[in-house]
Amino acid sequence: MTNALPSSCTVAVIGSGAMGAGIAQIAAAAGHPVKLFDARTEAIGKAIAGIRATFVKLAEKGKMSADAAHAAGERLQAADSLQDLAGSALVVEAIVENLDAKRTLFAELERIVGDDCILATNTSSISVTSIGAGLRLPSRLAGMHFFNPAPVMALVEVISGLATDKAVADIVYATAAAWGKSPVHAKSTPGFIVNRVARPYYAEALRLLTERAAEPATIDAVMREAGGFRMGPFELMDMIGHDVNFAVTQSVFNAYYNDPRFTPSLAQQELVNAGFLGRKSGRGFYRHDGSDAPAVG
Ligand code: NAI
Repeated sequence: MTNALPSSCTVAVIGSGAMGAGIAQIAAAAGHPVKLFDARTEAIGKAIAGIRATFVKLAEKGKMSADAAHAAGERLQAADSLQDLAGSALVVEAIVENLDAKRTLFAELERIVGDDCILATNTSSISVTSIGAGLRLPSRLAGMHFFNPAPVMALVEVISGLATDKAVADIVYATAAAWGKSPVHAKSTPGFIVNRVARPYYAEALRLLTERAAEPATIDAVMREAGGFRMGPFELMDMIGHDVNFAVTQSVFNAYYNDPRFTPSLAQQELVNAGFLGRKSGRGFYRHDGSDAPAVG
């Protein structure tokens, strides 16, 4: 059986938004020195402060000792530039869901890290084969797809592109398991497993809404209470972020040669156009800013 990366190995996380911060928290809690980088410098400090506060709260709830919480918080370090990530054993990318942006980043990164450094992408839907295609060593790239919120959700999809070395996918799998997750192996197909299966869940809910069949709160309540889902489709999209969710639908739609089953919703496009991205912007299908005003008219 393949071994996980030893906890003494440095893990770098690029992108310190919702997912990157969660992944950095998991790696630090597992004992790794963690370096966090983001194109927006201010996002890094905010993420590290947030993760440290979470560790303190976990200690207050008795889920970890105060010493362990402090030590985990101290293992997080802000990277001033990509150059700072030079000694990393594993880099997990969690930047914007855009193929060109990811390819550009990995090409730059490959000039900095050692040849034995494993590169992982948290992409929700983009082909791991395509992301890796521009690399000098595409065999070292695998998908390491966490779910939101990463510290809470057990599943991690470990995605192999056509060029991914099996040994690399096995180390990523073993490392996710060592971090307390429940990994699964999957091949690089559009949306992988969960985001493929989940597309109709969002699409049909958005169609119901545009046909004015029922309000988001009604549809969410039905899916939770009668359907047994933990979250209804609208509250889930508000949590994921409409920019991210819309980009995933577009990516799956394009990858399947515009199969109408995956047609992106104009109603969701409008939310993205308006900057109503969900929880992260304070407004989506619901209000998340304490206001009583309707979220969407
Ligand atoms: P986010 O918008 O919260 O954070 C993205 C961060 O990346 C931002 O802080 C941004 O400043 C930074 N960034 C953008 N371009 C960059 C670059 N070139 N170099 C360095 N930093 C850059 O996004 P979120 O939700 O954390 O998603 C990140 C990735 O994770 C995307 O690929 C997304 O599809 C994927 N993902 C998202 C999930 C979700 O539910 N939101 C779930 C699973 C995966």
